[in-house]
Amino acid sequence: MTAVDSAVNLGVLISGFGSNLQAIIDAVERGEVAAQIKVVISNRADAFGLERARRHGIEAVVIEHRRFPTREAFDHEVVDVLKARQVELVILAGFMRLLSSVMIQAFPNRIMNIHPALLPAFPGLNVQKAAIDRGARFSGCTVFFVSEGLDDGPIIIQAVVPVYPEDTEQELSERILTQEHQIYPRAIQLYQQGKLEVRDGKVLIKGEADKPSDQVMFNPPLR
Ligand code: GRF
Repeated sequence: MTAVDSAVNLGVLISGFGSNLQAIIDAVERGEVAAQIKVVISNRADAFGLERARRHGIEAVVIEHRRFPTREAFDHEVVDVLKARQVELVILAGFMRLLSSVMIQAFPNRIMNIHPALLPAFPGLNVQKAAIDRGARFSGCTVFFVSEGLDDGPIIIQAVVPVYPEDTEQELSERILTQEHQIYPRAIQLYQQGKLEVRDGKVLIKGEADKPSDQVMFNPPLR
C-alpha cells in the first residue's frame, strides 16, 4: 500500500447500533484520524447507526438486502454507491452480511472489519459467549483486512482483555467493545499514514517493529 498524504475517504457499512461508527466519527472530528466519512450504508432501515451518521452531517444510505435476488447483486449496488463517492477504504462496523467476491475484488485489501475475539480463535457469531464457555483466560478484539474466507484475513491490530470466571456475556462484550473503540480508529490512522503493508497474508506495520506495544494493547490491567 502506498503512503497517503491527504485524508482518506471512508465508506462505513453497518447493520445496527453503530458504536464503532461513533468511535470513528469522534476520532475524525477530534483530528486524530485524517479521514472523511463519505457515506454510511446500512442493509437495515432501522439501524441506529444511520441516525448517528445524520447527526454528524454524514450521508446515510439504506440498501435493503432483501430487495436483491443474490448476494452478488446486493454487493454490486453497494460497490456502486461507494465508488460514486470516491471511497478508498471500506469499514465494516457491525455489518452482519457476508461479502461476496464482488465487494472483495472491488476493494482488494481495502476493506477492514472488526471482530470481538482474538482471531484466529473464535471466528463467527456469539464469540464472547463461546470464549466464556471454553474457559478462555483472555479474549479481545481484532481488526483485519477482509478476504474471501470468514474472519480469516490478514490481522492489523489486536487488543487483549482478561476473561474473569464470573463474567457474564454482557460484561465481557462491554470490556471488549471499549477496546474496539480504541483500535479501530488506530487501524484507520495507520492505513491513512501509509504504514500498512500486506505481505504473504500478513500485515506489516512499517516503522513500528520496534514498538510492539503500539500493535498489541492490553487492557484493562489484570486485577
Ligand atoms: C461489535 O462487537 C463488532 O466487533 C462486531 O459487531 C459489533 C458491532 O457493534 N463485528 P456496533 O454496531 O459497532 O456497536
